[in-house]
Amino acid sequence: MNLAEVNASAWAELESAAADPQSAFRYLNLCSVDAGGRPQARMVVLRRVDVARRILEIHTDVRSPKWQEISANPRVTMLGFGPQPKVQLRLQGSAELHGPASECATEAWSLLPRSTRSTYMGGPPSDDIGERPASEGRIADADGQAFFGMLIFRAETLDWFQLRHADNRRAVFAYDHLGALTSSRWVNP
Ligand SMILES: Cc1cc2nc3c(=O)[nH]c(=O)nc-3n(C[C@H](O)[C@H](O)[C@H](O)COP(=O)(O)O)c2cc1C
Repeated sequence: MNLAEVNASAWAELESAAADPQSAFRYLNLCSVDAGGRPQARMVVLRRVDVARRILEIHTDVRSPKWQEISANPRVTMLGFGPQPKVQLRLQGSAELHGPASECATEAWSLLPRSTRSTYMGGPPSDDIGERPASEGRIADADGQAFFGMLIFRAETLDWFQLRHADNRRAVFAYDHLGALTSSRWVNP
């Protein structure tokens, strides 16, 4: 593969992962930095990809620590790994947060199945639940929507790494604000 093909294949993998629950890139590691400067990482589901604009869409609870962290510092990394072939995708960029009243979160909520909606109906993420049974404390569907937020990640760089027997390969790509490829190069792995 040449550089253009590596870039295209990485984005094609991400695009198909958003539609395919079996894809390795369906689950990505979203990394942010908290107020104390500590790195924070967690898995998220890749919901939608806009290849032309280099955008990845994630759903989350606006009461979660990550929402606070990313409001204060929108610079984040998304990390993924596909085992066949062994490819790591490390995307750096910034995240925009769209709260429950936004048009995009309202639309995404309207498309969610009831089972997924119910994950927003519990108490605030990270709060102790004590002895309370899981079903208690659930609130109405409409209220779950009040906690549903959309994170829109825009990639500025992609660091592609393929692990091979002897000759690992690595390439780095950069994109402008509209998503156009502005540089691509092979680097030492
Ligand atoms: C496979 C998997 C997928 C997950 N997907 C999401 C997701 O799409 N959005 C989300 O907010 N949390 C998701 N989580 C939970 C997060 O990893 C994390 O534990 C939670 O959101 C709290 O993160 P925070 O305390 O850093 O805000 C997922 C967890 C796993 C194991």
